[in-house]
Amino acid sequence: MIDTKRWNIENREVDNYSQALEEAASLLKGGETVAFPTETVYGLGADATNHQAVTKIFEAKGRPQDNPLIAHVATKEQLRQLVDHIPSYVERLMDVFSPGPITYILESNGTCADNVTAGLSTVGVRIPDHPVARDLLLACDVPVAAPSANLSGKPSPTTANHVWDDLNGKIAGVVDGGATGVGVESTVLDCTQDIPIILRPGGVTKDQLEEYVDTVMVDPALANQHAKPKAPGMKYRHYSPEVPLWLVDGSAETIQTLIDDERKKGNKIGLLASNKWLEHLSADEEISLGDTIYDVATHLYDGLRTFKEGNIDLIICEAFPEDGIGQAVMNRLKKASSDYLKL
Ligand code: TXA
Ligand code: MG
Repeated sequence: MIDTKRWNIENREVDNYSQALEEAASLLKGGETVAFPTETVYGLGADATNHQAVTKIFEAKGRPQDNPLIAHVATKEQLRQLVDHIPSYVERLMDVFSPGPITYILESNGTCADNVTAGLSTVGVRIPDHPVARDLLLACDVPVAAPSANLSGKPSPTTANHVWDDLNGKIAGVVDGGATGVGVESTVLDCTQDIPIILRPGGVTKDQLEEYVDTVMVDPALANQHAKPKAPGMKYRHYSPEVPLWLVDGSAETIQTLIDDERKKGNKIGLLASNKWLEHLSADEEISLGDTIYDVATHLYDGLRTFKEGNIDLIICEAFPEDGIGQAVMNRLKKASSDYLKL
């Protein structure tokens, strides 16, 4: 057990802001793991140039060794120091979307340790758009490898409490900068070919990217369960809540009938849905994901974590239209669910 340190700097005006970040940065530079907020989800950081430090990330999360990590940096200059060559379309995308929720997969120049890239020739690089992440990255002045700061298989963390629930005692510290904003992870974009390929839908949408590059492809494995995904992490079941989740598409009437039938069998039902659904439905426990698809993305992982075994036997969750950020939301929900019912 490690005595996990926690710094509360949700309010950037607090007196201990710089001191907290300096302590966190010095742990990172000393080869320890520290969790910190980004605009998407909390990341579990370690010095990306230090093989042994990166090993601690895999151990704390119970993460499969073949799943590469994203290297986080504060500036474009720092990003350039990790890769071989940046295609001109990536320069254009970086001007618009970085800092922001996008990760570029580029040929690595070997600066990052080989367990960051899981032995691949490429490396994922990202500039997060969060003041605490930026200040921390500037303070440590090394690239920071950081997967989402959850136990492998669980929903990603969007608050420091989520990180604490999963990793207290296993990591050196958590910087509590409050709840994250976007809520789903960054878009992972393979930029090693002339035409970029979305390996994981995320905070920057396909439509947004297509405003700046002519063609954006999507990894066929995202639509076909039997194809092998190009991002190693996409093949694992993920985001699993404690109890089974059914993703459901239907009318208020058919969904309420489904809920009532399950309750008659003695099952306690948790409903995870937008306010539009909740107005018309009732279950044993209800969690609102808000009004818009952006609200849904923001609140999704907290919702998945709130239903507890013992209180609830089955989660019924609304299926959302798969456009815009809805693609990322539905990608995560399909992985979290055991069934997708179209009533
Ligand atoms: O928003 C995010 O991206 C968050 C925050 C903390 O930055 N990070 C995150 O990391 O979601 P992680 O490790 O949970 O997911 C990274 C994904 C995985 O699916 C991984 O397989 C893929 O990116 N990936 C990383 N490096 C890659 C590479 N060189 N080639 C292909 N896929 C890669
Ligand atoms: Mg993850």
